[in-house]
Amino acid sequence: MSRSADYAVELKDIFFSYGSNSILRGVNLEVGYGEAVAIMGRSGSGKTTLLKIIAGLLRPEKGYVKVLGHYLQAGGLNSVKGRIAYIPQTLGLIEGESALYNVLLARAPRKPLRFITGLWGGDDVEGAVEALRLVGLNGVGRRRVETLSGGEKQRVAIARAIFQGAVLLLADEPISNLDLDTAEALVNMMVSLKLRGLSVISVMHDRQLALKYFDRVYVLDGGVLREAG
Ligand SMILES: Nc1ncnc2c1ncn2[C@@H]1O[C@H](COP(=O)(O)OP(=O)(O)OP(=O)(O)O)[C@@H](O)[C@H]1O
Ligand SMILES: [Mg+2]
Repeated sequence: MSRSADYAVELKDIFFSYGSNSILRGVNLEVGYGEAVAIMGRSGSGKTTLLKIIAGLLRPEKGYVKVLGHYLQAGGLNSVKGRIAYIPQTLGLIEGESALYNVLLARAPRKPLRFITGLWGGDDVEGAVEALRLVGLNGVGRRRVETLSGGEKQRVAIARAIFQGAVLLLADEPISNLDLDTAEALVNMMVSLKLRGLSVISVMHDRQLALKYFDRVYVLDGGVLREAG
């Protein structure tokens, strides 16, 4: 039997270019279930591009992407979409709405906003409150997200991933602009999601934190990934 069924994410010889600008030139990566890996690399090296490929938002020119047992290119994305949480650097939170509402949206993302209020049951609300509690945001559910600090917003985005029931968390520089202690607490919390069975792939700039908390750390350089020591 192929070992590939054992991986949450498997990338094989991925190539990707924007026009004539070749970004990825043979990326290989295997991430097991319940593993957390960090991806580092200089600005412009293609880290965001790589995360988007794993999330199914960009299609590689060559190579294959297998996520949670499905080949994304072969129409597998629909089967796994709800189980992948992609947190872009901009977080994608909806301003003017409460933290709780932003978390709840994870389970009704495609419904027009004006129609969804009131459609959630008590169980949903309880689940979203629980997710906020898990990320240490007890009691902030009613706050509008634009009134939260940078680190609190990050945690709302992670709570949304938990409430979504994601099995794979893809986070793009989740600790940029945070002070050291807050950054470390957030990374610790994110990596501890492994205990709930999640696989985590996170772009990181802080080498020390990456090496301290993640199972493996890779550097994207010259279009390929190599493991950092
Ligand atoms: N939609 C696009 N069209 C054309 N070029 C792009 C596009 N998106 C990104 N690029 C270019 O591809 C390269 C890789 O971009 P990417 O965003 O993946 O880098 P990154 O490693 O995430 O950088 P950073 O650390 O600054 O976020 C950059 O040179 C960027 O300008
Ligand atoms: Mg980036």
